[in-house]
Amino acid sequence: MKEEKIIIANWKMKLSLAETINLTKKIKTKFKDVSGVEIAIAPNFISLLEVGAVLKGTNIKLCAQDVFWEDLGAYTGEVSPSMLVEAGCQYVIIGHSERRKFMMENYEMIHREAKAVLGVENLTPVVCIGENWDERKTDRRDFVLYDQLQQALSGLDIMGNQEIIVAYEPIWAIGSGTAIEPTEAEYAHKIIKLTLNDMFGMKIVNNNFKIIYGGSINTKNAKGFIDLDNLDGMLVGGASLDVDEFYKLIKVITK
Ligand code: 13P
Repeated sequence: MKEEKIIIANWKMKLSLAETINLTKKIKTKFKDVSGVEIAIAPNFISLLEVGAVLKGTNIKLCAQDVFWEDLGAYTGEVSPSMLVEAGCQYVIIGHSERRKFMMENYEMIHREAKAVLGVENLTPVVCIGENWDERKTDRRDFVLYDQLQQALSGLDIMGNQEIIVAYEPIWAIGSGTAIEPTEAEYAHKIIKLTLNDMFGMKIVNNNFKIIYGGSINTKNAKGFIDLDNLDGMLVGGASLDVDEFYKLIKVITK
């Protein structure tokens, strides 16, 4: 399962609908020679169908930026896992730190969302964890990662070849222009892997989990990350918003 690294482009709420479609079209044209890496694009909710239509016939996958834990019902404004599958999504980001910050999402909600996503077929949750600056400064990172994983994933049944991606995004590195040192990411990923091993056993972790890094990845620093142990890919924000920059990033990674 782990041969190819995965790069997920999180476009957040940074592009208008027209810009979203325009960028997707440019990527479709420019990325024709890209191979050896899996790419997924996470546009805003209301662009999903159109972005999916543009990407038809390519290997680029569709990812949603959020999901609700119920399947159907009176939940105004929400979108369920099965609806995302219907819309063509193969991935969904869960519990991004921006949602934790602005929408008050907590790990109880993240747990419910992850469980609901695992309950439908062909949808992979990308569960975000990561410490804030204060936690890092006071040496609490390891515990924070352990605790977030426990809260998000404890008790989940992982069946067959169901995939789960854990995205390590140190909050203080997101959008800062400076990624953490690759060695620090490697260390954090090791903590994550050991915690997951404890929770699910090594076999399931090796077969069903991927661990990816996010936070100010760009063309200059990506190479330092991609060959790290326990790093299966990246969650990229800003550097995926320009077709040339994103293409260069992918080329750096696949070289
Ligand atoms: P940046 O790459 O812009 O720091 O964003 C990272 C991120 O939050 C991806 O989900």
